[in-house]
This record gives sequence, structure tokens and C-alpha cells, in this order.
Amino acid sequence: MRTPFCFAAFAICFALEAQTQNPPPAPASLPRVTAGIPVNYDEALVGTYQLPDPLKMANGKQVRDARTWTEKRRPEIVRLFEENQYGRSPARPADMTFDVFDTGTPAMDGKAIRKQVTIYFSKDKNGPKEDLVVYVPAGASKPVPLLLCIDFSPNAGTFDDAGIKLGEIWNRDHKRVPAERGSGMFHMKIDNLLAAGYGVAAIYYGDIEPDFLGGLPFGVRALYLKPGKTEPAPDEWGAIAAWGWGMSRAMDYLETDKAVDPRRVGIYGVSRLGKTVMWAGARDTRFALVIASCSGEGGAALSRRNYGETIAHLTAPDRFPYQFCANYARYAAHVDQLPVDANMLVALMAPRPVLLQTGTTDYWSDPKGEFLAAVAAEPVFRLLGKQGLGTSQMPAAGQPIFHTIGYYMHDGPHGTMPGDWKYFLEFMDMHLKGGQ
Ligand code: GCU
Repeated sequence: MRTPFCFAAFAICFALEAQTQNPPPAPASLPRVTAGIPVNYDEALVGTYQLPDPLKMANGKQVRDARTWTEKRRPEIVRLFEENQYGRSPARPADMTFDVFDTGTPAMDGKAIRKQVTIYFSKDKNGPKEDLVVYVPAGASKPVPLLLCIDFSPNAGTFDDAGIKLGEIWNRDHKRVPAERGSGMFHMKIDNLLAAGYGVAAIYYGDIEPDFLGGLPFGVRALYLKPGKTEPAPDEWGAIAAWGWGMSRAMDYLETDKAVDPRRVGIYGVSRLGKTVMWAGARDTRFALVIASCSGEGGAALSRRNYGETIAHLTAPDRFPYQFCANYARYAAHVDQLPVDANMLVALMAPRPVLLQTGTTDYWSDPKGEFLAAVAAEPVFRLLGKQGLGTSQMPAAGQPIFHTIGYYMHDGPHGTMPGDWKYFLEFMDMHLKGGQ
């Protein structure tokens, strides 16, 4: 009698597990070919793979203590990502300057004080630069924790605030033209963040580096080309690394602003800018927390899992090869040879908190691939005395798992939905409140 009962129980468990372990099946209407390359949306066909072990040194030795991780293995993994995926970025420019042209103006119906800064990346005032807008809650008596956002819109489009410098945007013809006010794709409402005691700051990714093929001459990467070169070397920065570098330059300013607590600055970005915040957080440990929305392939989703977008799609010549270092395309047909994977990217955040937000119908970005990367990053967080997700069971939509690693899938498409902010705030409160 026992055997059939156990078998039945196992079958039920298995059925339940199978239900919750996979997001809903992809509809047949999704395009199955992108850039001439097939796209797989069938869980049965994701293939088998072995992830590189974040706790095994290149020399084969196992990492058994926090010190070896921090001093040896972590820098080793950063270098591997630099050389093979995002490219090496330069250090902070010696001749960078901050022009604080708005030194503190009441804004957001009196709920905030706004500052604006132009960060010149070199001494050439006509050269590459970025505009930073900073809001801190009005009446704050102590330096505040802050969320630094990198956006698809110039700052005047991101916030509903007539006092923001208009700035410029790249139009469809790849020309810089004056931005429009309040027209941002991801128009941000920040009342709840301000009310909870957070500052909010933003930069526009197009100030740093354009987001189109052939954009190199018009962005900050051009400033750093070696004499006689028209392209960065194969292991030098792509656009994502440049955008992340721009976040670090914003942090350089924030460290000088007495209204902000530089030890409690989190970063947030969506999609390709979700990839950007993952890499910015990995490289620059001054960032205390990362919220990566739908970062997908080339971000927090496992590359070795053949589901949705792959390295081959990302680096196809007419898509986004410029976003990565040129070496990355080598792995389009050989993902098994990539010395890193997204589990290592998540691990580079340890012991700092990182929240991966996905969406049920964002099949292209592979929400399950992000979950599995988080699961596989967990041993590094544990080594450093922090808690990972603590389960290998993928949660249903709307059921966040929040520890030092957070995972939250909304019921809906690619991107951040207004209802997600409640969860972001909860995660920030868990980790950025309290400590000074
Ligand atoms: C494309 C791209 C993704 C990227 C997304 C975005 O879909 O393939 O990798 O995340 O654009 O930035 O919106």
C-alpha cells in the first residue's frame, strides 16, 4: 500500500512544482525569429548547461572565506565580465567638474528641494557631459538615503517639474534636439519615495552615450579612443558600461552633497538600463543597493539557458552589438565557453542587496532565467553572512521573496508597472533605512 500512496504524493508534488516553477507558457503568437535567429520559448528545449561556479577560482581552488572572495575571486570575476561582456571602463576623469547651477529650489508642491548639476566629463565644456537632477525631501534634518535612476528620457521628461533644465534628446534621425517637458516614457511619480524619507536623483542615458548603431563618435567613449583608433579595443567598454560609468560620475557628485548619505545610495534602471544598473552595481561598490527591472539577457538572466533573447540576438550586427564589448559576440555561438554567467553578476552585488523585478509575460527577457541566476548566486551571499532567496521554487506573480537578494515578478509585461513601486519601497526600507 505504501508505494502507490508515495507515488501518488510524489506525482501531486511534482505537478504542483511544475506549475509554479515555470511562468505561464508563451503564446504561439510571439515571433519565433529575431534578426534571422530562432527564439526558443519552450521550457522543454532550454537545453542542459553547467553554470560557472562563482566560488571556484580560475586556478581551480575553492573560495572558502569572505576575505578570499573579496580580495581575489571578486576582482577576478569583475575582470572576466570586463574582458568578455561589458568591456573595461576608464577611471574617474581627473579634470571632471561639477557645475551646480540650481543650488536648492523648492519643488514638487513644496515636498522637495531640487538641485541640478551639470557634470562635465573633461575640461572641454563643449565635450561630453551629463545633467543630474537631485530631489531631497523638504525639511530633512539629516543626510538622506537616495535612489539614483538612469532613464530613457532627459530629466525634464522624467519628472513633472517645470523647473528642470530642458536638455536635449536624440531624435529618430540621430540628431540632438531640445527635449520635451514631462513626456517621459517612464514618467516618475516620487511623492511616496519623498514621503518615506528618500531622495531621488536622475540622469539621462543619452547624455552619456547614444543608444544606436554608429553612435560612438557622439558619446563619451569617443573621448577615450586611443590615438588613430576609430573603435574601442575588443575588451573596452560598450554603451552599457558607459551608461554605468555615467552613474558612477553622478555618485562622485552625490558624495560631495551634504544633503545625501553616500553610504545609502541605491540605483534603479529598466531593461537595457536594468542591465546597466546590474553592471554599475557590480563595478562600483559605493552603490548600496540595486533594483534591476527586467534586465533580461546580458543582465540578470542566465545566458546558458536558451529561452527568449540570447547573446546571438543581442549582438546581431543590426541590433545591439555596440552595447557590449566586441569580445561578447564571440560567445553568440559558444555560450558554453563564456567564462561568466548571470549568476556571477548577481553574486558581485554581495553582500549588498539586489532586487530583480520581472514580468510574467516578458518572455523575451526570461523571468525564470533571472530567478535561476539569483538561486545560483546564493552561495556567495551565504559565505558573506547574508541571505539569498532561500528557495529554488519560483514564486508566482505578485509574491515577492525579499532577503538580501530579492525577486519579484509582476503580473504583466516588460518594464516597471506603477504597482511595483510599493515593493521597491519595501525592499529599500528593509535595507536602506536605519543605518547611518
Ligand atoms: C530589446 C533588447 C533587450 C532590451 C530591451 C530594452 O528588447 O532585445 O535586451 O532589454 O530592448 O532595453 O527595452
